[in-house]
Amino acid sequence: MKQLFVMAMIICSTWASATDNIIGGEDARIEDWPFMVSVNKQCGGSLIHPQWVMTVAHCSQYFQKIFIGSHHLYSSNMVQYEIEKAFIHPDYGDGEEGHDIALLNLKRPIDLQAGAIYPVRLADAQFEARGHQSPGTLATVLGWGLTTYDSDQYPVPWPYLQRVDIPIVSNEIANAPDSYNGEVKENMLAAGLEEGGKDACQHDSGGPLVVRDPETRELVQVGIVAWGIGCALPLKYGIYTRVSHYAEWVRSTLNAENQNLPRAIR
Ligand code: ARG
Repeated sequence: MKQLFVMAMIICSTWASATDNIIGGEDARIEDWPFMVSVNKQCGGSLIHPQWVMTVAHCSQYFQKIFIGSHHLYSSNMVQYEIEKAFIHPDYGDGEEGHDIALLNLKRPIDLQAGAIYPVRLADAQFEARGHQSPGTLATVLGWGLTTYDSDQYPVPWPYLQRVDIPIVSNEIANAPDSYNGEVKENMLAAGLEEGGKDACQHDSGGPLVVRDPETRELVQVGIVAWGIGCALPLKYGIYTRVSHYAEWVRSTLNAENQNLPRAIR
């Protein structure tokens, strides 16, 4: 495993520019992002309550178990939890219209004492109205996804959790003709650089895009990695499910399952 990883590093460094993790990011420590989850070691996710994980609907083929507790995907510190039931957004269709969001109810609650694990707060309409996720706001995306994009192959996830900081971009800019030409719906959020070079990529899907609440300094999840054309290409921003848009659906789904609402969701 280790040998393979070192080999992959060498190949990547000859192919891509000097920095090329997540795409253009760097190693992240789980202690700093204690809500980060891997969905079956294939997709990302976030812990939003001791017994619930949020991810994207398009990762549904991997809704068997989640892993939490380490930045290393194959570490023995990764604790495995089985999924009791998955709730896919009722309006999720072929993906074109978005609504790419799913909630995973775990069989047993996560032991929050067991190391670096804590639910993340979710953005809601109020948070958005206060301007805390407006265009230009710097956000961080996290994941074990590809660190270099080769459209011919879909290799395995990267073993070390990566992070990259990218600005939120307005839907208007992301919908420009040479960008996504109207495909970015209201329930989606764009983030990235006009010149490219920093982005999420395959296997980052379902993972969180977070900002810091300037008032409380808490991390708040504003996006879920959903799609993009290629990875880190100029004008092809990363497209995320807009979390604020689904705050009510999340709240009512958790309520309907008779869970105590987490402090994290308010
Ligand atoms: N759909 C991809 C996945 O399943 C994630 C794509 C994100 N792409 C991007 N360029 N931001 O992992």
